[in-house]
Amino acid sequence: MRTRTTTSTRASAWWRDAAVYQVYPRSFRDADGDGVGDIAGLLSGLRHIADLGVDAIWISPWYSSPMVDHGYDVAGHREVDPLFGTLGEAEALIDKAHELGLRVLLDIVPNHTSDQHPWFKAALTAPPGSPARQRYHFCRGRGADGESPPNNWRSKFGHSHWTRVIEPDGTPGEWYLHLFAPSQPDLNWDNADVREDFDSILRFWFDRGVDGFRIDSAHGLVKQSGLPDLSLPDQGVRNHPYWHQEKVHDVYRSWRQIADSYSQPRALVAEVWADEPSLLTDYVRPGELHTVFSFDFLSAPWRADVLRRVIDDSIAELASVDASPAWTLSNHDVVRHVSRYGRLQLDRPVAFSTDLPDGPLDLELGERRARAAILLMLALPGSAFLYQGEELGLWEVEDIPEHLLQDPSRQQSGDSVRGRDGCRVPLPWFGERPSFGFSPDGSVPSWLPQPEMWREHTVEAQNRDPDSMLHLYRSALRLRRSDAALGEGAFTWDVTPPQILSFRREPGFRCVVNLSVESVPLRPDDEVLLSSCPLIDGQLRPDTSVWLHRSR
Ligand code: NOJ
Repeated sequence: MRTRTTTSTRASAWWRDAAVYQVYPRSFRDADGDGVGDIAGLLSGLRHIADLGVDAIWISPWYSSPMVDHGYDVAGHREVDPLFGTLGEAEALIDKAHELGLRVLLDIVPNHTSDQHPWFKAALTAPPGSPARQRYHFCRGRGADGESPPNNWRSKFGHSHWTRVIEPDGTPGEWYLHLFAPSQPDLNWDNADVREDFDSILRFWFDRGVDGFRIDSAHGLVKQSGLPDLSLPDQGVRNHPYWHQEKVHDVYRSWRQIADSYSQPRALVAEVWADEPSLLTDYVRPGELHTVFSFDFLSAPWRADVLRRVIDDSIAELASVDASPAWTLSNHDVVRHVSRYGRLQLDRPVAFSTDLPDGPLDLELGERRARAAILLMLALPGSAFLYQGEELGLWEVEDIPEHLLQDPSRQQSGDSVRGRDGCRVPLPWFGERPSFGFSPDGSVPSWLPQPEMWREHTVEAQNRDPDSMLHLYRSALRLRRSDAALGEGAFTWDVTPPQILSFRREPGFRCVVNLSVESVPLRPDDEVLLSSCPLIDGQLRPDTSVWLHRSR
């Protein structure tokens, strides 16, 4: 077996080609029987993650929080929420992950806090113009009595991004800004307290051995001074008053210095949504963040021309600043990709759970394409982020009873969208009936119900079946780790018919993906390393990928 050789500088830049597994703690595993996942549960399932063959885990927020947005509303950045465990358990988890060879990324949420954060509570009891209010965006409203919001910023559901407060004397007063739910007030990044506190939060967790952070909504922190109106309700992201402001890059230059001050390299991964790939590169220029998700890949329909274009654009844009892409197919905000690919997608990019694709679901088709897609993604140059449960072939749960839906984006939409609960259903581990080992016997029901059909998708069932998604993930990740071509090796497209994607990685590796409706022959001299579905007479069937050792 050929093994990866990396130069010493590249070897320390582990984030450039790492495979990272995202843990959404409330749905990974529940050890204390309250129906919600916790750190002790994660500890007991860590071996499953290590055995997959990934290099790192990214843990969605475990900090103290009222959980309106399941932890993306942080009330205490240096505390672990009792729902998940204790700081001591978090520290033990970090150590155990390291023992198993897994680096640990946490999530940092700098755009906003919870409205239960001590700073926001203090701001509500402090007078207008006070230092406590200046940590957020408090403004007087428009109109004679300040009765209208300070500007025209609105959510995609049409609600104002402003909420008016009742002042301590009982009268309606100032308004505060929230790009997300009203319970997630935006911080003011022009304020020195805010900057200093986040510097110290980074150090707090780095000092506990954390290897990096995924930065939530990284493009939103800094707002244009004066908070001007949007000129058009759907204004593009260039020159936008709250996305991609130039001054946000000062924040990341300073965070990079903090990361670099540690002898073991720490990594900063940006969650940035941009409709122009060139905007992404600004975040990963030398001296800024280490990598940024290439969400265009996730949003692309299952079409060769679109996939090829987004792959080319991401690689080229990021290479222009010597950064590498971070690919992903699913996360806790989007429809699981088995369910996206299991539908006719035509031209429409699909992603958000608030935007479930139309048409009937063909699960078998979705699973076949998901198998092909993971071989495509893991063969690309760059890092790869996997979302818990995709290794079991889980799909979006679309029939959760209405009264159990919890995602705040649903309430904000006036119930016009289902929200993101369907991709957050607890993992099935073993057994024949829900909770499938998610919680111990005799526990309360899991916080979201699992489909009965997941009995065939438990870790135990998938372990037994050599053709399962789980075995495909393990084989692919093992090969990716051991094959010299699948790190930073060169990437070149082969010339193929339009519905076939075929590319070479050096030395000696080829990946072919058949997105057409007919089987295609492979070059007879190439040696098959792994295929997403069995080949028939040396032919690659529709919606199938293969990894090959190239003869030439
Ligand atoms: C992006 C996170 O991924 C999402 O889950 C969250 O609701 C928003 N940011 C707000 O923090």
